[in-house]
Amino acid sequence: MTKLTHLEPSELGTKEYWDNLYTTEITNHTHNPSDTGTVWFDDSDAETKLIDFLSNPDQPATISLSQRTTTFLDLGTGNGSLLFGLRDAGWTGRMLGVDYSQQSIQFARRLAQSRSSPPSSTSSPDSSSSHSLDDNDAQNIYFLEHDILHTSPTELLLDEQSQGWDVVLDKGTFDAISLSSETVAGTDRRVVESYRSKITPLVREGGLFLVTSCNWTEAELRGWFEGPAKEEDDEETRKWRFEEVGRVEYPSFSFGGVKGQTISSLCFRKVRNT
Ligand SMILES: C[S@@+](CC[C@H](N)C(=O)[O-])C[C@H]1O[C@@H](n2cnc3c(N)ncnc32)[C@H](O)[C@@H]1O
Repeated sequence: MTKLTHLEPSELGTKEYWDNLYTTEITNHTHNPSDTGTVWFDDSDAETKLIDFLSNPDQPATISLSQRTTTFLDLGTGNGSLLFGLRDAGWTGRMLGVDYSQQSIQFARRLAQSRSSPPSSTSSPDSSSSHSLDDNDAQNIYFLEHDILHTSPTELLLDEQSQGWDVVLDKGTFDAISLSSETVAGTDRRVVESYRSKITPLVREGGLFLVTSCNWTEAELRGWFEGPAKEEDDEETRKWRFEEVGRVEYPSFSFGGVKGQTISSLCFRKVRNT
């Protein structure tokens, strides 16, 4: 297994950075409704590639997914674009996007509302940040303010999702968390080290975790998510492991004799440790 290193902390690892970014994006959108904000890794066409990967009927990883019923949880959803893209590609199951930035949720709800109602609508879906799934049901896509690292995962395991979500998505959020300098309370472990134990309960048994990163190579992502959980991880996390079941192809480049990719997306299945 590749030895894990840590990234140099940066402002992208702070909530303040994301709050400011989405505040700006809301303002831009108000002035120009066609400006729907940043889609991460757009230059690699990641969103389309992820949707194609999930929608490919010949893909062994996703063969058992039903376009009608598969449920999606998007971690660090930003403007919700990936969920909207999946809905537009014909996936009709329940979708939930979560983000710790209240402004992100406000923005995503606003975009969801504009997809489902005429512009003259007087409702204000973005005024609430309560932890309820009933306050914005535009197209059965929900957005919730939720801190993956500091809020209990059980808050995202409601109703039919009590056993977890079919597909849990992360596009750029593990990257952002890797850039946080914060440590787990009472330890010197960086918070990124607790990420796996936070997301494990969110994926149902046999469900998929699809992570996309520009900061970690495929080998490094395997190091973070495959193999046995760490001793420091809780008992529940140690009952499970993720096994790699697919990868998304991106154009590769060669530099100094080394072959690389600008971004990596790996798909893991959650299986019980035997
Ligand atoms: C690089 S952006 C990606 C946004 C979106 N997934 C996309 O692909 O466009 C990272 C996102 O993670 C969110 N985020 C970072 N740390 C988080 C945490 N602890 N809990 C929830 N969201 C978090 C940020 O607010 C930001 O929206």
